[in-house]
Amino acid sequence: MTFVVTENCIKCKFTDCVDVCPVDCFHEGPNFLVIDPDECIDCTLCEPECPANAIYAEDELPEGQEIFIELNAELSKIWPIITEVKTPLPEADEWNGKQDKTSLLEK
Ligand code: SF4
Ligand code: F3S
Repeated sequence: MTFVVTENCIKCKFTDCVDVCPVDCFHEGPNFLVIDPDECIDCTLCEPECPANAIYAEDELPEGQEIFIELNAELSKIWPIITEVKTPLPEADEWNGKQDKTSLLEK
């Protein structure tokens, strides 16, 4: 199994998640983070750290978020690893909780 970053990370990118991952499996894109499913050891540590509640176990994804399994797998092979917390995107608080952000994902 793996954990998966879902839609609500888009345009927020709080990055608290990267601080706790023991195996450095987060990868960073312009306005979203993903988890490498081949590296994730299912430790669960990142899930409660996300202020946007964007991280779920693969088998507990909310309805409609299934597309993010493939997106995490695909983009983690392209984007660089991120291991240090950084400042969230400038309008993170405004975008936190907004619906239908998937089309805004920058690759
Ligand atoms: Fe990293 Fe653990 Fe989260 Fe997997 S569940 S991404 S290993 S912190
Ligand atoms: Fe995204 Fe949450 Fe991490 S918003 S960057 S998954 S802390």
